[in-house]
Amino acid sequence: MDSRRRFLQFLAASPLLGLTHAGRLLADETLDRTGLADHLIGSPDEALDVFDFHNVARQVLPTSHYGYVATGTDGNATLRANREAFRRIYLRAMRMVDTSNVSLQTELLGESLDSPIVLAPVGSQRAFHADGELATARAARAQGHLQILSNVTTHPIEDVIEARGAPVWFQLYPTSKWSTAKTMLERAEAAGARVVVLTVDLNANSNRVLLGQFSRADERDCSACHGPGPDDWLKTKPMYDGTGSVSADWDMSAMTWDYIARLREASSMKIVVKGIVTAEDAQACVESGADAVYVSNHGGRAEDSGWGAIESLPEVVAAVDGRMPVMIDSGFRRGTDIFKALALGADAVCIGRAYIWALAAFGQAGVEKVLEMLRAELSMVMGQMGARSVPDIESRHIGIRGG
Ligand SMILES: Cc1cc2nc3c(=O)[nH]c(=O)nc-3n(C[C@H](O)[C@H](O)[C@H](O)COP(=O)(O)O)c2cc1C
Repeated sequence: MDSRRRFLQFLAASPLLGLTHAGRLLADETLDRTGLADHLIGSPDEALDVFDFHNVARQVLPTSHYGYVATGTDGNATLRANREAFRRIYLRAMRMVDTSNVSLQTELLGESLDSPIVLAPVGSQRAFHADGELATARAARAQGHLQILSNVTTHPIEDVIEARGAPVWFQLYPTSKWSTAKTMLERAEAAGARVVVLTVDLNANSNRVLLGQFSRADERDCSACHGPGPDDWLKTKPMYDGTGSVSADWDMSAMTWDYIARLREASSMKIVVKGIVTAEDAQACVESGADAVYVSNHGGRAEDSGWGAIESLPEVVAAVDGRMPVMIDSGFRRGTDIFKALALGADAVCIGRAYIWALAAFGQAGVEKVLEMLRAELSMVMGQMGARSVPDIESRHIGIRGG
């Protein structure tokens, strides 16, 4: 840890800092911290907000790995919209309510949660830290948060569940082969997972220009980890072991709504559909028998719609009309962001890059600090708004400019 701290201090003193490729390209992510964006913290305890972890991640990650977490699609319009949309939602504070005891306790699909803040599925976490998904699981355990595990995890689900000390939810990219999906579902269920999260927002793939820019700038030879050819990448993902699938099978373009019934038949896990942004598809989730809908534009990594996730939340909530829980992610960086989603009717909010930056920067300790900070920020804004508990948070607590 000492050498890491010294390295960060060296970087902080470097005249090159602030001129990095990443620094120039990602001004969007640091809008919140204008002028101070390049300060580097040496330990998680120094963090003022999650953007402090972003600054460190940007410096310590290999160029292309940073590109993997940073990327949006096309010209990053959705990536930007995810953040900008929060600025149009303002808070309406209700004063003089006794908020000396604020509770974040909530319930989601029959599970009692210490807070509505959930770790979104993020693949290949060993690209960010040697302990990868295990560090995330240990942080989730220590801080009492639900973790959703990507099926492109770099640690097997059995090990992650052991590290978390409780089941994770299992996110699924099924490939074009039903047998692959079925094998993974059976394995996840046998390991203890009770919920499968089907991601449906990359079925025709996405155009990750920013990732390409960073990869091009990375001069290392990456074949030692990634294999010599494009056909090999699935072989490095343990959940695909024994499925018989190869990278060429990574094609979900034929998937339609009847897939939900297929999942239901093959597994007794509850089913969440991730990647919904419209009322029409929220309605389809209800009709196809899913258990929950998860609003997401994949953190601006699916299509470049230019539509912030929080902007599609109201129509989804209206279409669902209380018939199932609504989750959301994409662009959440602060307690106030989380509060706004809860006020618009979300039941839980998932975070992606916010904890991945911290994982890259400081491993488990970083992720723990992000979770602790976001809970503290959410509690503070709840107190300010006069909301003592999650069910207390209502639409009267927010307004939408021009809405
Ligand atoms: C590096 C990275 C990898 C991701 N991998 C997956 C994945 O394997 N499965 C999935 O459903 N979503 C994946 N996502 C999307 C996240 O689950 C989530 O939707 C997104 O990160 C939320 O936006 P935010 O990062 O702005 O919070 C990934 C996101 C990132 C940044």
